[in-house]
Amino acid sequence: MTKFEELHKLKEEMEKDDTLPLKKGATKLVFGTGNTKAKILCIGEGPGHNEDKIGEPFVGQAGKLLDKLFPLAGLTRKEVFITNIVHHRPPENRDPEPHEIEAYRKYLDKIIKIIDPEVIITLGRFSMAKFLPNVFISSVHGKKYNVSWNGKNIVVVPMYHPAASLRNGNVMEAEKTDFVNLREILKKIQNDKQSLVNSEKNDKVEVEQMNLV
Ligand code: URA
Repeated sequence: MTKFEELHKLKEEMEKDDTLPLKKGATKLVFGTGNTKAKILCIGEGPGHNEDKIGEPFVGQAGKLLDKLFPLAGLTRKEVFITNIVHHRPPENRDPEPHEIEAYRKYLDKIIKIIDPEVIITLGRFSMAKFLPNVFISSVHGKKYNVSWNGKNIVVVPMYHPAASLRNGNVMEAEKTDFVNLREILKKIQNDKQSLVNSEKNDKVEVEQMNLV
């Protein structure tokens, strides 16, 4: 099975799962979208009003900002895969509760396993805490962390949630700087990889878009 097929199968499984705690109050499952062969996986918090209606992550105001932040790092939305820590909208956009995060975890872990990213960009403190527990986002944002996750080394870069930037000008400035610096972090990872596989040609970013609506 291709990653695309595996993700579709997982999405169907998730849609049938009535035990998911936020399902009742939600309109649509927001599984994730983007390049199924991405080397970079972005993980947000949870769907908001617009995402719940459309079934895609980051399609509201925070998503519009994210679309402007990606180019600062030399990226476009099409190159990455984007998902969330919970995949149904929490009522009134409240924070997801620990038992809810736990209920969705098995699916998120499968998404991570299928995408098999080299870099995970966490957006906000809930997805950050999955990989970097007991830290403050104000101390770690924009930095590169080597994390061992299920036996694989992954680079995790915690970023502020774009919605936090929309609320606070200082956070916005920090987030823009972090995305500019992310370009260097990604370049260095790519260079290190090339020196390891020295004669191999640079992987062309393959784009197989998954628009799982
Ligand atoms: N905020 C998130 O964390 N995720 C979305 O999908 C939309 C807004």
